[in-house]
Amino acid sequence: TTPQLLAGKRVVITAGATVEAIDPVRYLSNHSTGKMGFALARACVVAGAEVVLIAGGKVTLPTPLNVTRIDVLSAKEMLLAAQQCVDGTHSALSLLSEEAHDHAHDHEHHHGDCDCGDDHYEQQDDEHKEQHSHHAAVTDDNARAADIFIATAAVADYRTEEAAPQKIKKTQEAMTLSLVKNPDILATISLAHPALFVVGFAAETQDVERYARGKLASKNLDLIACNDVSRKDIGFASNDNAMQVFFSERYEREAITLEKTSKDKIAEQLASLIGETIWH
Ligand code: C5P
Repeated sequence: TTPQLLAGKRVVITAGATVEAIDPVRYLSNHSTGKMGFALARACVVAGAEVVLIAGGKVTLPTPLNVTRIDVLSAKEMLLAAQQCVDGTHSALSLLSEEAHDHAHDHEHHHGDCDCGDDHYEQQDDEHKEQHSHHAAVTDDNARAADIFIATAAVADYRTEEAAPQKIKKTQEAMTLSLVKNPDILATISLAHPALFVVGFAAETQDVERYARGKLASKNLDLIACNDVSRKDIGFASNDNAMQVFFSERYEREAITLEKTSKDKIAEQLASLIGETIWH
């Protein structure tokens, strides 16, 4: 009975911690588990979306039903996967497309001039098979871009300049790791795709609204969900979360508080808010 607010939408979500190699056995990472992103993936599927979930190197959660999952390690790998998934060109999407493609052919006999290629990545509901039969021929490679990008991943801000090829020996009394800044996946994707609906997350310990509005603008987001990580009862490994949601000025919508509840419930509310905002 949930309204299918995201019916036919293609959603790409990043989740969990990235892992930045120091040498073949050691890495830099953080405590993010990916729970929020996985809960959102599930909620978006329930809301009718087709979801690709890009999971960082330390995620141990089971893949939600009907979600296409891509595992990556580092921020650089996550950025590449996200770019390809948003553009609809990632190889994992072609598998999906073959199934949907066969299915679509079973169902729809009037393809006309559609030349469905390997990279074809097709929505599985009837309405979109219709659309496919009319519009697929317009795109060259049949790749269909995402409509929504949600960045929940806790991306390492820095990585080692170069991972050592062999295990580093403990011969020195002190050592220095040289780190370089990682790309901002959310900002990179958002600024390169002005029409994409982009959702960010922020963990703040103070001045939540000011920092949130700053990130909305600087990363060109449509919506940002913030939690106060100075609270012990929510965030990271916790099953609960509470959020303040801020919208881009173009929606002329007041901030919303989502009271403390399970990450699954928060995810459902966020999926609804995204759906409502998109149809605005
Ligand atoms: O700037 P800050 O790290 O607070 O931004 C948090 C938001 O940006 C989250 O949505 C996070 O997933 C995303 N992010 C990203 N790539 C980074 C850093 C943050 O996608 N390198």
